[in-house]
Amino acid sequence: MTQDEMKQAVAEAAVERIRPLLDSDTIIGVGTGSTANLFIDALAGIKHLFAGAVASSEATAERLRSHGIDVYDLNSVDQLAVYVDGADEFDPHLHLVKGGGGALTREKIVAAVAKEFICIVDSTKKVDLLGEFPLPVEVIPMARSHVARELVRLGGQPVYREGFVTDNGNVILDVQDMEILDPKALEQQINNIVGVVTNGLFACRPADVVLMGTPDGVEVLHDTH
Ligand code: 5RP
Repeated sequence: MTQDEMKQAVAEAAVERIRPLLDSDTIIGVGTGSTANLFIDALAGIKHLFAGAVASSEATAERLRSHGIDVYDLNSVDQLAVYVDGADEFDPHLHLVKGGGGALTREKIVAAVAKEFICIVDSTKKVDLLGEFPLPVEVIPMARSHVARELVRLGGQPVYREGFVTDNGNVILDVQDMEILDPKALEQQINNIVGVVTNGLFACRPADVVLMGTPDGVEVLHDTH
């Protein structure tokens, strides 16, 4: 099975998993990236079963609308039954690194509102220790150099994502070589740097379940540690 086929399998598994949660009032949160895109495409087949979606990026909003799925402003929504999104890495506690696509801040906001966070990945995303994938940090543009110096003090090597502007009008620093021994503490520490909007560690609010596509099928993973 190719990586794309594994992504397709988890996208379809996620649709089946959320189907019992849906009714005509249900609004769901939808993530960003190639796996989330496959989920959106699969979701289109059951769009008559729910009210609509909140998108974690402009790209996702556009794709949802292209399928005729209504997109809601998060401020007009009381609750989200579920949030479905991909990840760049996940560990055995279902802590994630996200933001490869640069949508980390809106993703973290939507995940915070959702009752359940279902993460959909292929098996290449599984790690024992987070940090091999460079950690994205969204930064207010004027604070870029200051934040970069602070990230060096924390032991990382920040790299400016050239030519990329987030949906919020900010820039991204991708932090290489960061030792992530305590993901929750590091998530909070980086977020405390003045000028940081948020970082791509999802440890304070991890996934509730990971659906992982493998060559042998889809595995359902919980934090067992
Ligand atoms: C976007 C993300 C994505 O979830 C992450 O980059 C995974 O993407 P893909 O499904 O394309 O591998 O965090 O900001």
